[in-house]
Amino acid sequence: QWIYMNGNYVTKEDAKVSVFDHGFLYGDGIFEGIRIYGGNIFKCKEHLDRLYDSARSIMLNIPLSYEDMQAALVETIRRNEMRDGYIRLIVSRGPGNLGLDPERCPEAWVIIIVEQLAIYSEEAYRNGLVSVSVSQRRNIPDALNPKIKSLNYLNNILVKIQANLAGVGEAIMLNAQGYVAEGSSDNIFIVKRGIVYTPPCYIGALEGITRATIIELCDKLGYTLKEEPFTMHDVYVADEVFFTGTAAEVIAVREVDGRVIGSGAAGPITSRLLEAYRQIVE
Ligand code: PDD
Repeated sequence: QWIYMNGNYVTKEDAKVSVFDHGFLYGDGIFEGIRIYGGNIFKCKEHLDRLYDSARSIMLNIPLSYEDMQAALVETIRRNEMRDGYIRLIVSRGPGNLGLDPERCPEAWVIIIVEQLAIYSEEAYRNGLVSVSVSQRRNIPDALNPKIKSLNYLNNILVKIQANLAGVGEAIMLNAQGYVAEGSSDNIFIVKRGIVYTPPCYIGALEGITRATIIELCDKLGYTLKEEPFTMHDVYVADEVFFTGTAAEVIAVREVDGRVIGSGAAGPITSRLLEAYRQIVE
């Protein structure tokens, strides 16, 4: 396994960052999770756009041009002979002295890891996940905006811990007003009477690239899609619930907080969207 670090390719054993790296010390940095399907980078432009937007928002100077970043991704995939897998692209503020001032960090660090991906079983895609809502609230957009895919994932990790304690694969996070925001690392959709709903991102959700792809697919397949705030009540009475994410793709939910959703397996619209999604990526 070859890992890209600031223009060099190093082995997994040699891929080490400094304890003075501000990504490590303060979570000061950004990242992307990207899929490789059949040797191609899926939605490369969308992921790089989001990365460069996150960088701009936090005044992080990425030391590579957009084109050079793209070339680095391609070269890392080639060196690892990866046909299907997952890319973790990280840009950290880089090493600097203690103290959270980013001006202490002369140079951002760019790291690219490509790996095989352990995803949900096919059984989970057919029968759906069990999920719960958790007490942890989503960062609100006027504090640390969830649109920034920052290395500071504690908010989401606390949700993941609550999911683990409940023994479920993914949990549902609300915003401070009690509206459904998203999962720990996935966006959420519900279906009611044939209409597909997802929370608008201003509620407190990452602008997921899979989410955007599903919105496009709804249009293509003739499903009405509404970006509207909704509550846990709407989730409980939904005909279908599913999560979307780069890693998860489109995964059905069969039970939430003890309420059985629809028929208790992946619903027809969820299954149709998953099928259409897989047709795009394959
Ligand atoms: N997830 N919400 C959060 C908080 C996320 O971390 C992610 C990404 C998503 C889905 O976004 P996208 O469809 O662009 O992946 C939503 C991880 C990193 C992943 O699935 O790879």
